Order: sequence, then C-alpha cells, then structure tokens
Amino acid sequence: MTKTTTHPLSVVALYFLFSSSLFHSTLAKSATYNVVAFGAKPDGTTDSSNALVSAWKKACGSAKPASILVPRGKFLVGRAVTFSGKCGNKAISITIRGTLVAPSEYNFIGNSLHWFMFDRVSGVSIHGGVLDARGTSLWHCKNSPTNVHCPSGAATLGFINSDNILITGLTSLHSQMFHVTINGCHNVKLHGLKAIAARNSPNTDGIHVQFSNDVTIIKPSIHTGDDCISIGPGTRNLWIEDATCGPGHGISIGSLGWDMNEPGVKNVTVRKTTFIKTQNGFRIKSWGRPSRGFVKDVHFEGATMIDVQNPILIDQSYCPHNICPSHASGVKISDVSYRGIHGTSATSVAVNFDCSSKEPCERITLEDVKLSYKNKASQALCNHADGTALGIVQPHSCL
Ligand SMILES: *[C@@H]1O[C@H](CO)[C@@H](O)[C@H](O)[C@H]1NC(C)=O
Repeated sequence: MTKTTTHPLSVVALYFLFSSSLFHSTLAKSATYNVVAFGAKPDGTTDSSNALVSAWKKACGSAKPASILVPRGKFLVGRAVTFSGKCGNKAISITIRGTLVAPSEYNFIGNSLHWFMFDRVSGVSIHGGVLDARGTSLWHCKNSPTNVHCPSGAATLGFINSDNILITGLTSLHSQMFHVTINGCHNVKLHGLKAIAARNSPNTDGIHVQFSNDVTIIKPSIHTGDDCISIGPGTRNLWIEDATCGPGHGISIGSLGWDMNEPGVKNVTVRKTTFIKTQNGFRIKSWGRPSRGFVKDVHFEGATMIDVQNPILIDQSYCPHNICPSHASGVKISDVSYRGIHGTSATSVAVNFDCSSKEPCERITLEDVKLSYKNKASQALCNHADGTALGIVQPHSCL
C-alpha cells in the first residue's frame, strides 16, 4: 500500500493531462455551423428550411466532428426536411435553443411522412429545442365527419436506418401525427422527451419504435391523444424508465400480427411508469389474423395507475372494421411479467388477458399487483392465458 501511494496520484494527473488535451483538440477540430449564417431568420415568418439543409450538408460533409446551432428565436420550417447520411464523420451534434415551427396551413408538411427525417445517419445527437408542428387544424379536419380531404399528416421527427443516436431535452408540440418515430435503428437514447398534443388528437403517439434494437427511453413526459409509447414488430432490447403518460392510450406493444412473416418483439423492460387517466396502462395487442409474430421476455416493473380504464390488457382479437379472415391471432405471447403495479382502475375489469385460442399466452406472471375500482375490488378476466400469481394480487388472479 505505502509503496504505491505516489502511483495513483500520477495516474490521476496523467489522466487529466490526457483527457483535457483530448478535449481541447476535439474542440479545435470540430466546426460549428450556425443556421443563421445560412440564411435562417428567428422571426417566425421567413422559411428557414433551406438554411437547415445547407447547415446539415456542411456538417455531414465534414471529415471532423461537427456541430449545428439553432439559436434562440422562432424559425419557420415550411416544408418537410430530410437530413440524409451517410456523412463524412460520426459525431454531429445539433443544439436547438429556439423553436422550429411549421406553417399554420397543414398541407405544407401534411402530405409527407415526417416533418424532420434523419435517414441513414450515425452518431447524431440533438440537444434541447422545441418542435411545434401546429397540428390543431389537421386534427379538426380528421375529426370532422364531413371533411374527407385531410392529408394523413407528418410525424414530427423520424429516424430511419440510423445508429448511435442521442436525443436529450427535446419538446414536441402539437404533432400532426406521431411525435417521434424510430424505425430500423440501432442504439438510440432518448432522454427527457416532452410531447404534448390534445387528448382528442388522432394518431399522435408520443414515441413509436419498430424494427429497432437497443433503444433506451428515459424520463419521457407524454400528454397526447394516442399511445404514449407504441412498440411495433422487430423491437429488441428496449428499455423504458420513469415515463409519465396521460392523457393518451398508454404504453402499447402492437398492433402486431398483421403480416404473416413479421419479426417478433423481444426483451422489453418498462420501469417506474406513471399513468394518469389513460385509456390503457400496459397493453399488448395483436390482430386476429394468422402470423408468425411473437412477444417474448417483457417486464413491466413498478407503475402507478391513476384512473386508468384498462390498466393491464392483452387483446389478441383486435380487429376494427371486421377485416380479419380467421379472428384467431397467430402471435405467440410468452414470458410477460407485471410486478409492483398499484393504483386505481376506471372500470371494474382491471386485468384482462384475452389471448389467442390458437396460440394461448404462456408464463404470464402477476406479482404484487393492487388495483382497485371505486374503492372496491376490481376484476380479472382470463381467456387462453396461463401463468402464475405471486404475493398480493388484487384483483384476484384468474391465471
Ligand atoms: C435486454 O435488453 C437490455 C437493454 O434494454 C440489455 O441490457 C440486455 O443485455 C438484454 N438482454 C439480452 C438477453 O439480450
């Protein structure tokens, strides 16, 4: 011990020397592109779309790490914008201090899949910022029974076929469709997303993940009209922690099983969720159609439910408009656990496992679940569901 006392100190000193010189050399090497230098104006009326694209082209073309800055102010982005890879470097950091706003007339972005789309990028990070898609008039159009001429609407921010993505402190307001989509991606971290849309806004899911692995979502706060987080086919190694949901439809795996050859959903953990007056809590749903899809190794751990209509739900006969040939889902659901789930149900059935007659649910676990309905015991329903109940389970388990 005494012999080596000087060594740790010198190791620490060396470390600081080394890391600070690394830090300075990175700073010196990375270029910052301010969108204002490319013609963007923080006046809320000048279309800054081209300036964003020009700044991206510079950053993406750079052989060194690059930064893009959107300073304070309101920048109109009047059309759908795609940020394409592949880039000359794998470290592009985008800092947004202000707000990017869509035009009030919904058709300018409403016929595109995304307002902002990142396609085949690697090592992109986005810090801060507000994206205001001004979707209100499109929701009205879609909700109006007489108007059939509304576009389907753009998701606000999409990542497709990309990897090593970090998004921190972003706010999405009034998206026309989904707020954020992650499709065909690997290693995505989403920290502190705030998503807000009206409770009656159609298809405004907070975060949608599909065909992606190693996605981590920490502390999202999602108040919207559709799913808080929706999880599509081909999702693996998804981690969600400290989510707050409501209003909206809760956290949903599905709809799955539309296609015959659909990749499954595997290894999903959802920890410490708060649901406030949502339609569902944890839902797994599949179409009543033949499919080779599956859901496996899913863990819902720790949740507070306040006045949730369907706190725990598996729904395998999902078939609006009666368009399913067989009405029995081919999606196999197994190894799903619900642990430490407490609160209140807004309906008498707090737990409903309505599984497929063709592929019954297997190894479902309920442990330490306490859900009441109007200060009384709630009910659990099981259909083709097999599993175990451990510890206190209220409603009385039907497994
Ligand atoms: C499951 O996913 C988590 C990340 O959410 C990961 O850390 C873990 O290694 C995965 N487990 C397996 C068996 O792949």
